[in-house]
Amino acid sequence: MPQASSLPGTTDRRLAALLTLLSENATIVISGARIAREIGVSRSTVWRWVERLRELGVRVKGQQSAGYFLEKVPDILTPDLLRKRMKGKLFGKRVYHFFKTDSTNRVAMELGYAGELEGAVVLAEEQTAGRGRAGRNWHSERGAGLYVTLLLRPRLSPVQAPLLTMLAGLSAHAAIEAQTGLSAELKWPNDLLMSGRKVGGILTEMHAEPTQVRFVIIGIGINTNQEKFPADISATATSLRRESGRTHSRLELLVRLLTEFESDYNRFLREGSSYVVKRFEAASYFANGKRVRVETGHETYFGTTAGLTSEGLLRVKREDGETTTVIAGDVTEAR
Ligand code: BTN
Repeated sequence: MPQASSLPGTTDRRLAALLTLLSENATIVISGARIAREIGVSRSTVWRWVERLRELGVRVKGQQSAGYFLEKVPDILTPDLLRKRMKGKLFGKRVYHFFKTDSTNRVAMELGYAGELEGAVVLAEEQTAGRGRAGRNWHSERGAGLYVTLLLRPRLSPVQAPLLTMLAGLSAHAAIEAQTGLSAELKWPNDLLMSGRKVGGILTEMHAEPTQVRFVIIGIGINTNQEKFPADISATATSLRRESGRTHSRLELLVRLLTEFESDYNRFLREGSSYVVKRFEAASYFANGKRVRVETGHETYFGTTAGLTSEGLLRVKREDGETTTVIAGDVTEAR
């Protein structure tokens, strides 16, 4: 099994400890000698790492001779901080943190093949090739959004895996609403919208035998503190900050999301798919009575949503009166 701190590119455990030490003593000057002692590295390493943190956008003030302090506690998702908040929980035991990686889904997939345990969490401050659905790219500006992937090893058949995506959608929906106090829309199967614009999305990937899932990874992206977006998505994307007019702690949001997901996941394993389907139908404005346009790749048609099947697939009553089940494809609201 991989070592949580030895995977190439993960944040060095001692670098994270430096950040935690500075964060817990924010605005207090700590001497380089004390830092070196507490985290077990030389003073010159402390100096090099402080430079590194500065390059990564952390506002560390002071100098080698006088000591260092943080002007402001940075909103960085260090494993130590997360572990502390998720004590005794499944998601919080094995945390992989990257300042920069290509995609947390790519990393989690690799960990899955290497035998990593259920409950591992992969986090990045920035993704250079964040993956979206349908081969799209997921815009992943440094420090502005939540980019997280969870590794699960449920005893399920592959056909039940989409229910996990829906479960993650429900958890993200609840976390966003609790964090902002505003309402968000949950679109089948997993888009999160605010004011009709996309604020979050989920990309599930898995490795399975015909009748048994080996592992599933659930990648969740939530636009949190972005002020603006690149031109190609600026008309369709939004962030919690843009909607609520204030910035949000990504750590708080993440803790809400993981706590919510853990309790939902356990209920799903106990109670089965009906729990997810019932909750989704209750939370999603989209699941019933919405006029939609469905694009399957083979055809495009219009109809009205008519609830979910027991596997969580969307029923659509077509204009010709026939009711179909949407397995894959893009479903959008038709006006
Ligand atoms: C979508 O297109 O709606 C799904 C977006 C999923 C983005 C997240 S960000 C964290 C994880 N890592 C990835 O590369 N993608 C997912």
